[in-house]
Amino acid sequence: MTTAAKRVRRELRSPPISDAGAAFDVERVRGDFPILRQRVHGKTLVYLDNAATSQKPQVVIDAICGYYALDNANIHRGVHFLSEHATEEYERARRMVQDFLNAAQADEIIFVRGATEAINLVAQTYGRCCVSAGDEVLISAMEHHSNIVPWQILCEEIGARLRVAPISDSGELLLEDFGKLLGPRTKIVAITHVSNALGTINPIRRIIEMAHQRSVPVLIDGAQAVPHLKVDVQALDCDFYVFSGHKVYGPTGIGVLYGKSALLDAMPPYQGGGDMISSVTFEQTTYNKLPYKFEAGTPHVAGAIGLGAAINYVNDLGMSNIAMHEHELLAYATQALSAIPGVRLIGTARERAGVLSFLLDNIHPHDIGTVLDQEGIAVRTGHHCAQPVMQRFGIAATARASLALYNTREEVDVLVEGIQKVREVFV
Ligand SMILES: Cc1ncc(COP(=O)(O)O)c(C=O)c1O
Repeated sequence: MTTAAKRVRRELRSPPISDAGAAFDVERVRGDFPILRQRVHGKTLVYLDNAATSQKPQVVIDAICGYYALDNANIHRGVHFLSEHATEEYERARRMVQDFLNAAQADEIIFVRGATEAINLVAQTYGRCCVSAGDEVLISAMEHHSNIVPWQILCEEIGARLRVAPISDSGELLLEDFGKLLGPRTKIVAITHVSNALGTINPIRRIIEMAHQRSVPVLIDGAQAVPHLKVDVQALDCDFYVFSGHKVYGPTGIGVLYGKSALLDAMPPYQGGGDMISSVTFEQTTYNKLPYKFEAGTPHVAGAIGLGAAINYVNDLGMSNIAMHEHELLAYATQALSAIPGVRLIGTARERAGVLSFLLDNIHPHDIGTVLDQEGIAVRTGHHCAQPVMQRFGIAATARASLALYNTREEVDVLVEGIQKVREVFV
């Protein structure tokens, strides 16, 4: 490699990230996200659609570009320099995810496309081998479609039954009812850590304890939790934990399934193909060890490396600093929105993270979103892939503002002004 190439590589690998342990300085953090500097419809962009996907800091963009500029090669099967280097970087990303979740072993981390694929993987492998006709799968009434439909497909295929634990008017899981639904036929509990439609933080430690008292394994959908909360899968003792890279400042198309190694070992493979085998003949195939047994085909190497950079980034800021900043901002936003005449918050659980779902008088949420867009404010409107949540509250849709580590009080003030403009137009 030339000296110039080495220098470029070093520069790409030595990102200008915030000092570890430094006080959380949101203005400085915003400087790390190039997309936030742009204007939309002539207005400063106020990005409040973070539950759908979050923006990427420059270090993540650089890690992806750096991989394609300098390291691109297929992994695990090359003897040449680039292949070995790409393999090292991919496996380093896996160890970073392991540390991020505090998993006991790196081979308990399976790279997948996202939370959706991770849940489908568990439903189609653990589900097919361990759930039989007449058995039950227990979920909650606040799940994203990703944590409903894969289980419905499984239940339909094998004649099992999907049970749903109800939620209260404030959007909290009714734990007593959940406990009553845990029965001798329950073969798995699959539940969200944080609701994308309501923001509710579920008491997952208690839920896991209750399920384990009956020897029922638990899958936690952490898609909306990992950007906001420190997660420790060993302390939680969950059996599976899933999340998507793109919601935690990483790239799209990469996500994680954590599973206890004993369970993963016992499960059949999900997809067949290259890398997931240890030997193949026409008569018989033997499968590779963990985690490769579940990573058939060429994986999203750049995505894993980008996710590693995103994890580095949030670690450097400090998950507790992020949580504190967002907690304070959510309290400020909740108070500010509640004070606007005609606003009704959907989801008022005592423990919430990141999400403000709301209605405004009888104005259709799409109209709210369109007027806000003209003000440069990005919010999401609709059912948020959680139609049963909408049915539970007797509504068709909400407008949803969702927060990230780079949002500010000033942006919340712009949102409040925007909502007032919506009222001026429609009321
Ligand atoms: C709670 C929850 N689970 C699962 C998903 C699915 O994530 P992905 O589409 O990245 O697979 C989402 C996405 O919004 C979500 O909010």
